[in-house]
Amino acid sequence: MATLQDVQNVCLTRGIIYPTAEIYSGVSGFFDFGPVGTSIKHKFIDYWKETFVKSHDNVFEIDGSTILPEKVLKASGHVDSFVDPISQCKKCKSIHRADHLIEEKTGKFVEGKSCEELTEIIKKNNIICPNCGGELMGIRVFQLMLKTDISPTGGQIGYLRPETAQNIFTSFNRIYRTTRSKLPMGIAQVGHSFRNEISPRNFIVRVREFSQMEVEMFFDPRDDSCEWFDEVKDVKINLVTREAQQKNGKMINTSVKEAFDKKILPNKWIGYFLAKEFHFYKSLGIPEDCLRFRHMLPEETPHYSKGNFDLEIKFDFGWKETVGNSYRTDHDLKNHMKHANVDLSVITNNGKVIPHVVEPSFGVERTIAGILLHNFVEDKERGWNWFKFPAKIAPYICGVFPLVKKDGLAEKAKGIIEDLKKEGFDVFYDESGSIGKRYARSDEIGIPIAVTIDYDTLKDDTVTARNRDSTKQIRVHEKDLRIFLEGVLRGLE
Ligand code: GAP
Repeated sequence: MATLQDVQNVCLTRGIIYPTAEIYSGVSGFFDFGPVGTSIKHKFIDYWKETFVKSHDNVFEIDGSTILPEKVLKASGHVDSFVDPISQCKKCKSIHRADHLIEEKTGKFVEGKSCEELTEIIKKNNIICPNCGGELMGIRVFQLMLKTDISPTGGQIGYLRPETAQNIFTSFNRIYRTTRSKLPMGIAQVGHSFRNEISPRNFIVRVREFSQMEVEMFFDPRDDSCEWFDEVKDVKINLVTREAQQKNGKMINTSVKEAFDKKILPNKWIGYFLAKEFHFYKSLGIPEDCLRFRHMLPEETPHYSKGNFDLEIKFDFGWKETVGNSYRTDHDLKNHMKHANVDLSVITNNGKVIPHVVEPSFGVERTIAGILLHNFVEDKERGWNWFKFPAKIAPYICGVFPLVKKDGLAEKAKGIIEDLKKEGFDVFYDESGSIGKRYARSDEIGIPIAVTIDYDTLKDDTVTARNRDSTKQIRVHEKDLRIFLEGVLRGLE
C-alpha cells in the first residue's frame, strides 16, 4: 500500500492540493485545492448530494452562514465544552494534545476525563514530550473555535462555525413550515467548518478549515418506523462492536437488520445511513476491508448522544473516523428552545413532539484523502503512477489529444472538445509532447479516457478511445462519443 505521504507528494507536484499561502511558507492546517483537486471535490460533493439529498423528496438542502453569533454556540454547548486538553513541554515549550499522547502511549481512550485526571495519568505513565523528552506541565483546556468580532465598534462576538449542523437546528422551524413538511424530514448542508486544531497532521486528514456534508434527519421518536430501512436491510456492513473493542477489536460482517434486531443500533434511521454509507464509500474505490463502523465506547460517546457509529477508513497510519453517525435525540432543538425562547416542537398525528435527530456527518477533505490513497496505483510496468478514480469523481471524463498539431488535427480536436463541452462533459485538452507522455499526464490525474485525433479521423470521423485502466484502445465514431462517455460515467465501458 502506498502512503499518504506519497499521495501528498503527487498532489503537490501536479498542483492538485497544496499548502495555503505557499509562497509565504504556508500555514499549518490549511490547504488550497488546485484545478484538478477542485474538480474532484465538486464532483464528489455532487455525488454525495445525489445519494443522500436528491434521491429523497423529504430532504432539503440549505446553505447557511459560516459565522455564527455567540448565543447559538453557547446554546449548543460549544462555547463551554468544545475544548481539547493540552499540555506544554517545560523544556522546548511545544504544545501537545494530552489525550492523544495518552492514547498513543497506553492505547486507552480518555475522552471525558478531567484535566486533573489526565495530569495524573501522564505522571503515572511517565509520559514525556515526544519532541525533546522534557517534562510536561499540568493539563489545561484550549477552546477549539476561532473567535471573531462581528460589529465595527466591537462587542458582538461571533465564531467561525465548528460544524455545519447548528445552522440546520436554528433553521429547523422555518424550513419545516415553509416546505409544509411532515416528519420525518431531513435538512442537509454542505459547507466549511473551522476548528483551531492543536496539532493538524496527516495532510488533509486533520486541518483547521474543512468542509462537512451533514444531514439532520428529524423524526418522531414515538414512531420507530423508517420508510427507507427495508430497501437496505440486507446490506452487509463491517462493524466493530463495543464488546469486540473490549476483547480483540475484530470486526464482524453483519446485515443492518441483524445489527438492529440485536439492539446494537439504536434505531432504523441509523441502520439506513450506515448501509448507504458503506455502499457509497465502496463505490468511491475504497476496498471493503478498509472500511468499518466502530460503535463508540460509552466513555467516548457525547453526553447528548444515544449511540455513535464512526465510519472509519484504514490509512497507512491506522484507522481514522471519516463519518460520524450520531443519534443526537432532541438535545439541540431543546437547547435552542431554552436559549432562544421559541417553540420548536411540531404537531404530528400522535400529538405534539420535539423531533429527534439522527445525524450522519461526513468530512470532505478526510474522505478525499481516503479516495486519493486507495485509488493510487504504483505501476512500475507502465512507468508512471496513476489514479484509478471512479469516472463520476474523476477531474475530467476524457482528455482530447491531436496526434500532431499540424495538418488540421488540432482544429479537429478543438471542434470535438467544443461539442463535448456543450454536452456538459468536463474535458481536458493537451497538444504538447509525444502521445505517450500525454497518456502518462492524463493517467497521473486519473482521467478515465484518452481520445486521440489522428489522420484517420480526418477521413472517417472516428477517434481512438484509450481506457486508462486496461490501456485498451477502440475506435469510436465522433457522433457516438457522447453515448460512449455516458457509458463510462455509468461504469459500463
Ligand atoms: N456535527 C457532528 C460533527 O461535527 P465530528 O465527528 O466532530 O462531528 C464529523 O466531525 C466529520 O468531520 C469527521 O468524521 C471528519 O470527517 C470531519 N472532521 C472533523 N474535524 C476535522 C478536521 N480537523 N479536519 C478534517 N476533517 C475533520
